[in-house]
Amino acid sequence: MKTRSIVLLLVVGLLAAVLTACGGRTPNVDWYLQVTGDVGAPLTVSYQELTVMRQVDLTDILMEKSLGDDVITSWSGVPVADLLAQAGVSDYATITAVAEDGYAVEIPREELQDAIVALQRDGEWIPNVADEDGMGPIRLVSPDTPASRWVFQLQELRVSAAAPEADVTEPPPVAEETPPPTEEAPPEEVALDGETLLNERCAGCHALARTTSAQKTESEWDQTVTRMVNLGANLTVAEQEILVRFLAETYGP
Ligand code: HEC
Repeated sequence: MKTRSIVLLLVVGLLAAVLTACGGRTPNVDWYLQVTGDVGAPLTVSYQELTVMRQVDLTDILMEKSLGDDVITSWSGVPVADLLAQAGVSDYATITAVAEDGYAVEIPREELQDAIVALQRDGEWIPNVADEDGMGPIRLVSPDTPASRWVFQLQELRVSAAAPEADVTEPPPVAEETPPPTEEAPPEEVALDGETLLNERCAGCHALARTTSAQKTESEWDQTVTRMVNLGANLTVAEQEILVRFLAETYGP
């Protein structure tokens, strides 16, 4: 009797040890995933929270690799759709998956239907270390898109409601007087006056006297300033107009 219960204890203990070794226990990982962009409510979930969400298995899916041979792997993790639902997203066009190092890939919705945020690969927690295929601790995995887009060390899913080329079909605005603001200068910044622009953007390469000693008409100033922009002066189209008008008024013939 006594020996039997000892044997039983040993067996139970052994089983527990084996289970733990097989990845039964959740690794203690400090990692957060954010769902941002066109969402109802931005979402941040910790690795631990991901481990207790609904897990889905993607079994025997082809990993089309850009380098080396394609491989068949199995993954499990949280459906992207569940995360989106939690962030209040009902419709979207693309998601930009962003890795910890800033690497980002924009993926259209059609390719994300079955995507998961994988926590495990082939039954093992994905280690958060440099490893050929399995850098973790979490990785976007989608059977509908090549593995080169399965962003690992995933940190952010940036949701975009509109497709990038969404308004290509709309007729472009014809003969608009004011050019659209360029990226480096949102409209608020255009409000700078000519004198400020001259002091801030024209003194980097040569003395201001080079400008203030000249006398030019508006079109001559426009030519000069265009040349300066081509040389590297930092002015948007709108700012250039303001500056040229100021120069012509102040340093005219
Ligand atoms: C990236 C460097 C750089 C910046 C910034 C720059 N310049 Fe110049 N500028 C030059 C160089 C180089 C020359 C001489 C070569 C030439 O004239 O093309 C020059 C020459 C000039 C001259 C004398 C030649 C002429 O056509 O009268 C004027 C005036 C002038 N710059 C005005 C400006 C103004 C106004 C700005 C601000 C918008 C400006 N520069 C910003 C590099 C710069």
